[in-house]
Amino acid sequence: MPSTLTFSCVLALASAVFAVPDTRGHSSVPNTFPDFSSCISQPSVYSCENTTQIVNTCCSPTPGGLVLQTQFWSTYTGLEKSGQKLPKGSWTIHGLWPDNCDGSFAQYCDLSRQYDPAPATGVPPYTGPGVDTFIEQFGRLDLLEYMNNYWINQGAPNKNFWAHEFSKHATCTSTFDVACYGPSYKEHQDVINFFDAVIRAFHQYPTFDLLASRGILPSNKTSYSLGQIQDALKSQTAALPYLGCTTNGTVLSEVWYFSHVYGTEQYGHFKTLDTTTKSTCSPTAPIWYYERTPASEREVRK
Ligand SMILES: *[C@@H]1O[C@H](CO)[C@@H](O)[C@H](O)[C@H]1NC(C)=O
Ligand SMILES: *[C@@H]1O[C@H](CO)[C@@H](O)[C@H](O)[C@H]1NC(C)=O
Ligand SMILES: *[C@@H]1O[C@H](CO)[C@@H](O)[C@H](O)[C@H]1NC(C)=O
Repeated sequence: MPSTLTFSCVLALASAVFAVPDTRGHSSVPNTFPDFSSCISQPSVYSCENTTQIVNTCCSPTPGGLVLQTQFWSTYTGLEKSGQKLPKGSWTIHGLWPDNCDGSFAQYCDLSRQYDPAPATGVPPYTGPGVDTFIEQFGRLDLLEYMNNYWINQGAPNKNFWAHEFSKHATCTSTFDVACYGPSYKEHQDVINFFDAVIRAFHQYPTFDLLASRGILPSNKTSYSLGQIQDALKSQTAALPYLGCTTNGTVLSEVWYFSHVYGTEQYGHFKTLDTTTKSTCSPTAPIWYYERTPASEREVRK
């Protein structure tokens, strides 16, 4: 019947126009996006490379324009029994840190957004609902699932680690300031937006695959030299990341990718740069990139 057909077409059209753009399989996703409309009239620059004052600090991370995407390689979580496991074939997320262009950095910059239950001394511990409940309130179960797969804590629940990273670092990153979310700011939308931004940056640096493509795989039999690991990463990111080792510089455990950001930290371009921090891995001793305990790993969706 033509009239029914027309009616359903109009309905379909109406929902296509009025629904929040849906790329994640939800019928309606509450807004977690910033309001960067005032950045349109600002000159775009790479952070730490501006030659004039950055007037609107929502538009470029400043201070803190040397941005570090940090990752861990660990072989266990300590909470395997409660299902907290490591993602097979991937390093895990540590965070996204602001570093002043001179190597110094600030932390816990906004105590009104302090959600860390175990913060640095001098910072009051948070005792309210976990940041996982913030994510649920925004209907972002997809994000929660991703974070539980790839953003893994050791010896304590994942959500404490996420809260720590937000409160310690994102509150010192100007593009996540509350003022950047406009007059209709909804509490915690900056938290969700930060988590999404961390994951976007993490995707730029798939350490496991970058190493594997150069034949460097976790092994309890074969060790590597620091130079081999550095060359593998440098040849693909065009910059030397920081590599961290434990056990007298012999066990690979961390990587930090340095960058300047063109535009906002949420959506801008990350120009990868050499580390400003010296590696704690031995330049001469064999470096172990250990296989994980099988019971500490699980298959996850890529
Ligand atoms: C870059 O912008 C920041 C923030 O406005 C300012 O403090 C700094 O002096 C600027 N750098 C230069 C070289 O003008
Ligand atoms: C590190 O090396 C020093 C000196 O070689 C040694 O005494 C110490 O036991 C080592 N520490 C570890 C954790 O292997
Ligand atoms: C490899 O060695 C590490 C460090 O000793 C250990 O934790 C892990 O269980 C070992 N993995 C396998 C598969 O043997």
